[in-house]
Amino acid sequence: MKTENTVWHTQVVSKEQRSAQKQQKPCLLWYTGLSGSGKSTIANAVDALLFEKGCHSYLLDGDNVRHGLNGDLDFSDEARVENIRRISEVAKLFTDAGLIVSTAFISPFASDRQMAKDKLAEGEFIEVFIDTPIEVCESRDPKGLYKKARAGEIKHFTGIDSAYDVPQSPNLHVKTAEQSIAACAEQIVGYLVEHGFIKESK
Ligand code: ADX
Repeated sequence: MKTENTVWHTQVVSKEQRSAQKQQKPCLLWYTGLSGSGKSTIANAVDALLFEKGCHSYLLDGDNVRHGLNGDLDFSDEARVENIRRISEVAKLFTDAGLIVSTAFISPFASDRQMAKDKLAEGEFIEVFIDTPIEVCESRDPKGLYKKARAGEIKHFTGIDSAYDVPQSPNLHVKTAEQSIAACAEQIVGYLVEHGFIKESK
């Protein structure tokens, strides 16, 4: 047992004090969707709007995190599970810091998204399904990865030869093929205001 000789310390400054100082309720916007669906683009647009409003937020982005913290993980099912486990732990720490956290990972398995949700306080986890049909993702192919996957140069590619569990009841259902990036971002920020995470004017 790795925690056998470690003791949990309660911190002097509480999560409530941190969020009160920031005048916002911490939460985790958990973006999920296929590669090329627009997760990073929309998460960045939301983060920019939050920053403009003076909110305290932070975005953990799949491709970037895989260069550092998760640089040792590949795209096998086991490694994807570990990817999401680490991200959800980091996201939890950031919500403890009082932040509005966003994570933009394919996170293909429903069980892992549930695991992330279970780590957070009640109501803090907001599942944002970036619902873009695979044909649209493939036609965008911003990194040329679908082309490589179809040619068999990349194995276990999500949506081609690796599974994606479609969210059954996401908090937010965002259809990027039907509305602009700005409209998608407004939809998400609107949800945060409506549910009292941030103030309208903030
Ligand atoms: S996850 O499945 O473990 O959640 P993550 O979001 O971190 O994936 O990384 C996905 C990104 O890695 C994709 O947007 C793409 O750029 C790249 N990638 C490289 N190989 C694969 C693959 N086999 N399947 C999916 N994405 C891949």
